Amino acid sequence: MALNMEFESNTSNWEGVYYYPHLFGAIMLTAALLGLSTSYFGGILGFPALPYMLPNLSNLQKKKREKKKIRVYMDGCFDLMHYGHANALRQAKALGDELVVGLVSDEEIVTNKGPPVLSMEERLALVSGLKWVDEVIADAPYAITEDFMNRLFNEHKIDYIIHGDDPCLLPDGSDAYALAKKVGRYKQIKRTEGVSSTDIVGRILASMEDNKDNQVQQDEELNETKKSAETFLKSKHASNFLPTSRRIVQFSNAKGPGPNARVVYIDGAFDLFHAGHVEILKSARQLGDFLLVGIHTDQIVSEQRGIHFPLMHLHERSLSVLACRYVDEVIIGAPLEITKDMITTFNISLVVHGTVCESKSSFNGQPDPYSVPKSMGIFKMLNSPKKITTTSVAQRIKANHEIYEKRNAKKEASEKKFYEERKYISGD
Ligand SMILES: *[C@@H]1O[C@H](CO)[C@@H](O)[C@H](O)[C@H]1NC(C)=O
Ligand SMILES: *[C@@H]1O[C@H](CO)[C@@H](O)[C@H](O)[C@H]1NC(C)=O
Repeated sequence: MALNMEFESNTSNWEGVYYYPHLFGAIMLTAALLGLSTSYFGGILGFPALPYMLPNLSNLQKKKREKKKIRVYMDGCFDLMHYGHANALRQAKALGDELVVGLVSDEEIVTNKGPPVLSMEERLALVSGLKWVDEVIADAPYAITEDFMNRLFNEHKIDYIIHGDDPCLLPDGSDAYALAKKVGRYKQIKRTEGVSSTDIVGRILASMEDNKDNQVQQDEELNETKKSAETFLKSKHASNFLPTSRRIVQFSNAKGPGPNARVVYIDGAFDLFHAGHVEILKSARQLGDFLLVGIHTDQIVSEQRGIHFPLMHLHERSLSVLACRYVDEVIIGAPLEITKDMITTFNISLVVHGTVCESKSSFNGQPDPYSVPKSMGIFKMLNSPKKITTTSVAQRIKANHEIYEKRNAKKEASEKKFYEERKYISGD
């Protein structure tokens, strides 16, 4: 099943030829006219799995570049999706005109690495919500097979397969992208520094360890022993992410609201960015022309939800929100209270808030942060389409913590090795 989003069909004659078997003769003719060696086809004909595939299209593509859109493909599980995934897809998109994402099915993930934290439906919502993604193929295999590669080239008209700079080996130890490399249809991107799903699972598990400690020491004062233990836990799972101004620019739309735009404002923690966030941002964006999102500071989130939160830091949360196609701009470190001045500064027409929010984020005893927009008659509650919350995602990991702890220990070791052996690679 392929989910088409903003897909423009390309109708050039040249494009048609290599998808239809009865036109195979025409390819040979076209190729001959363009002076391509027919030895290319000798290779193909002796290779029954690749009957309609033209290897190394670089000559043709140079001539046709004005017309033909370059379609690139990148796959993944995108479980516990984070800004590192988003950045990889941003880089992939930059290598072509249209980005097709292969989402590995739940069954394939279960077989290859155990149960995913997020269901296909949730992963699909997250990936489709990214502003760089044009299409999603929702049944990609875990390891790319020759058959599937042919489907990509022939059915999905993919020009290049993209992968990160970490090696990807098949069960037999061979390079999963060897064939794509051989036909010159492979491109590599640089892996995003400082974040991985393993690292995020680690942070969630660490927050759980902290909770256990808390129960024992619930009534005790925070003393030096505990403080230093906490500092230790935090540093063990500290983020390696170094936010740069350039990364934020790469994720930004670089466009303010138009002259008569209706600006909608929504704020929150947006911790562990999930499918529920995508849905609420989509609903909010539909109420105006420009969606401004206020991301609360780490301190505000801690005060609201407890010392183990946020799981993702302010800049990490900001990037995840910026990557969402429904978001026009973010305030990196927004205050809890919406003031008259803020409403004037950003010309905010409407302030919205979701009906499903974190259990702990009740404003007990505090003044209502929305009292100003409410008094101005520009506040609206939005029905949250999904029940999912950051806590419920974290709870799934906690519920299966033994499986995830084991899986994580293994992955942490290989990631540690990756970081230790890592060398500088240029690129964005
Ligand atoms: C401080 O915390 C440690 C470890 O939890 C505990 O053993 C100790 O009794 C505490 N000290 C005080 C003065 O509360
Ligand atoms: C402010 O927003 C309103 C819509 O609520 C719009 O009509 C108006 O043009 C905006 N002001 C400016 C200066 O853009």
